[in-house]
Amino acid sequence: MTAFDLTAAQTELQGKNPRTILKAALANFDNIAISFSGAEDVVLIDMALQIRKDIQVFSLDTGRLHPETYRFMEQVRKHYGINIDILSPDREQLDAFVKEKGLFSFYEDGHQQCCGIRKVEPLKRKLATLDAWITGQRKDQSLDTRGDIPEVQLDAGFSGPGKQLIKFNPLLNWSSAQVWDYIEAYQVPFNELHKHGYISIGCEPCTRPVLPNQHERAGRWWWEDAAKKECGLHGGNVKK
Ligand code: ADX
Ligand code: SF4
Repeated sequence: MTAFDLTAAQTELQGKNPRTILKAALANFDNIAISFSGAEDVVLIDMALQIRKDIQVFSLDTGRLHPETYRFMEQVRKHYGINIDILSPDREQLDAFVKEKGLFSFYEDGHQQCCGIRKVEPLKRKLATLDAWITGQRKDQSLDTRGDIPEVQLDAGFSGPGKQLIKFNPLLNWSSAQVWDYIEAYQVPFNELHKHGYISIGCEPCTRPVLPNQHERAGRWWWEDAAKKECGLHGGNVKK
């Protein structure tokens, strides 16, 4: 493997389809993993397995996911015969936080602290072991925060001195409809919650179904400002 030329890759992958972006990601990095949320980003796993059989997959188990999401993760594990690295929050931090603020503090003072402990810290731990990661972010998920993310980027938030972390967003240029066409065409398993009006799926207390024609992000952290609806996994998307 030669040194990764980010600028060249950005030019080459601009506007490309998910398979092309995934192929480039897997050709350039061995130590790379898919970050699977338990929602429609399952298509990344389906596509990646056709390119590399031993692709690494991880999920952040916040402890607050819907029962349907846990069952779906298990279904995906069995269906594809893969291991999923399920990451839990740091016990000491979580115990102290819940003791002090209870289980629903995010409705009062915002989701940042809870997401910080339940998602971002475990993610940081995982990313420290990787050279690159793959996410299911798409432009159409949020014009406020995802409208101008690139196919491949330096993940400045999780890079450190002497370590550059690269982030690939293969589904970027696909619409939700294209993702669902793929799921249907290739009989990809999907989370039951999608049958009940849920589009974007996160933690149970912070996700609700949306009404017809409402934007999918409207069902996430609905009590907060749309321009800030990022939990820190993709913190670089929030415009200062
Ligand atoms: S979030 O930041 O608002 O929660 P979103 O639900 O849109 O993210 O998902 C975008 C991508 O972030 C997913 O496709 C996945 O790659 C990653 N992601 C989100 N939640 C998780 C999770 N619990 N575990 C692993 N990856 C996740
Ligand atoms: Fe906590 Fe809600 Fe963030 Fe989940 S989405 S980690 S429950 S604030």
